[in-house]
Amino acid sequence: MLKNTLYKAIQAGAVEVVRYFNSEFKISNKEGVNNLVTEADHASEKAIIDVIRADFPDHQLLGEESGKLVQDSNYKWIIDPIDGTVNFAHRIPLNCISIAIEKDGTIIMGAVYNPHINEFFFAEKGTGATLNDKPIHVSNETQVLKSCLVTGFPYTYINMPNGPLDVFDKLIKKGVPVRRLGSAAIDLCWVACGRFDGFYEHKLEPWDSAAGYLIVEEAGGKVTNHENEAFSVYQHKVLATNGKIHDELQKIVTGDDI
Ligand code: IPD
Ligand code: CA
Ligand code: CA
Repeated sequence: MLKNTLYKAIQAGAVEVVRYFNSEFKISNKEGVNNLVTEADHASEKAIIDVIRADFPDHQLLGEESGKLVQDSNYKWIIDPIDGTVNFAHRIPLNCISIAIEKDGTIIMGAVYNPHINEFFFAEKGTGATLNDKPIHVSNETQVLKSCLVTGFPYTYINMPNGPLDVFDKLIKKGVPVRRLGSAAIDLCWVACGRFDGFYEHKLEPWDSAAGYLIVEEAGGKVTNHENEAFSVYQHKVLATNGKIHDELQKIVTGDDI
């Protein structure tokens, strides 16, 4: 039943995302100049929440655009109605809907769907991860120097030791390709299916990381914070890899490599 509702909810969000992507939509700023939200984000989130509330009216919700609905339930749905809104606003077809289900504090199911290229990633805790219903696995690369990595940058730059540009600078100077797609949920899924060997980012929110985190782990990868500690979606620093380059990349990300 949970899986069925998750599928229905993500499809309902996708209908809105595709409809707006092919027509006009209003864009506004949330904070700063480029943290955008569009009519499509609101329409997608509403469609998703309508489906969830019809099936599970007592479940808790955490949506990027509508905030928290705290109720007396062990279940919480964590929703990003469009991850990659800046891409969406510029008609770049690298954006997705991301929905995770948390039970008693553990992420037990997650789905990420890019409707523009019809890629549906799914994972259920303990049962593996799939892309369009076919099992997926992380890559086998063992060295950061031979890896293809991906990262993202926050809308408001954070000046800190080993900040986003410091780590990027170091990797680029080593000659390591580091891509920047503009959707953390897609970045994580592309680690899960082996296109990338690793991903790191400094300032993510639960709706960016929750579904992708489980998909990476279920595809055989490893996800921690930057200090190599157990991952929580409620902290901001994400390091996700195929597992084999994890410790090496972790030292680079925290500056412990020299
Ligand atoms: C953003 C994307 C981006 C990441 C930002 C997020 P949004 O989410 O995931 O890749 O770098 O930090 O805020 O705003 O498009 O949902
Ligand atoms: Ca997001
Ligand atoms: Ca979003």
